[in-house]
Amino acid sequence: MLSKGSCFTSLSTFYQDDILNILETVKSFDDQNLKRFIPNKKKLIANLFYEPSTRTSSSFYAAATYLGHEVLSINNVQFSSVAKGETLEDTIRTLSSYVHCIVLRHPEEGAASRASIVSSVPIINAGDGVGEHPTQTLLDLYTIYKHFGRLDGLTVSLMGDLKHGRTIHSLVQALELFDVKINLIGPTDLKLPDYLFREGYLESVELTANLAQTTNVLYMTRVQRERGAQGNYAFTKLDAENLPPNSIVMHPLPRVDELPSWFDTDPRAKYFEQMSNGLAVRKFLLDRILG
Ligand code: CP
Repeated sequence: MLSKGSCFTSLSTFYQDDILNILETVKSFDDQNLKRFIPNKKKLIANLFYEPSTRTSSSFYAAATYLGHEVLSINNVQFSSVAKGETLEDTIRTLSSYVHCIVLRHPEEGAASRASIVSSVPIINAGDGVGEHPTQTLLDLYTIYKHFGRLDGLTVSLMGDLKHGRTIHSLVQALELFDVKINLIGPTDLKLPDYLFREGYLESVELTANLAQTTNVLYMTRVQRERGAQGNYAFTKLDAENLPPNSIVMHPLPRVDELPSWFDTDPRAKYFEQMSNGLAVRKFLLDRILG
């Protein structure tokens, strides 16, 4: 499914075995020497970011560098020919003739898929508007797998802007491959899109005591105000009291005010570990795709 030369634009075509195989392989990239430099047959990777990023762009940059590759970073697209009105397709055609792989973040849903059609090199989707964020999902799953040793049998409560959250959209598709109970928690205006909703999902506008007490993984997201979303919710001290001791709280970050910093020192707060797992996952991805 994910092999040398392949694009990685969506999780919609993955099977359970593909995911488990990836999570087991990521372990070998997640070792004490995570930051050692590996001299390799050097390749050039374009980090093409039309939207802001801290974690995804820098972890891909770091992963590429530690693997011995070089990175061409374009994250100020206003200084590229995009500012002159160049289409995504022409930009991709151009870059793909210079580099070996393109990591693309773009504000439009489906952009990575469009790019993969005209690109002569692999495209990795680093977030396409409100579409997907599949590399984030691999690090999310890896974080859960590392903590619980499994995905089957867990209850995952997704809380926040489920409508615009691309991390949610990829994660739901991946969790659907496993025996996972999914709770959807958030404002009614920010509900999960219909195309992703499945029978059996429990919906609630708030994290009730009962939902919290039966949750293994609480996965929070922020309101995506840059996409016109509105809504207010926040993790509370009562939520923290209700969550079981062996549960974990995740967040793809950046957070705003939905996940207060007083919880950061709680052993169940896994969002910084989750973020740091991005390096191993992206090392794995570049290694697998670039060969
Ligand atoms: N989680 C995530 O995609 O973070 P960035 O926007 O900082 O890349």
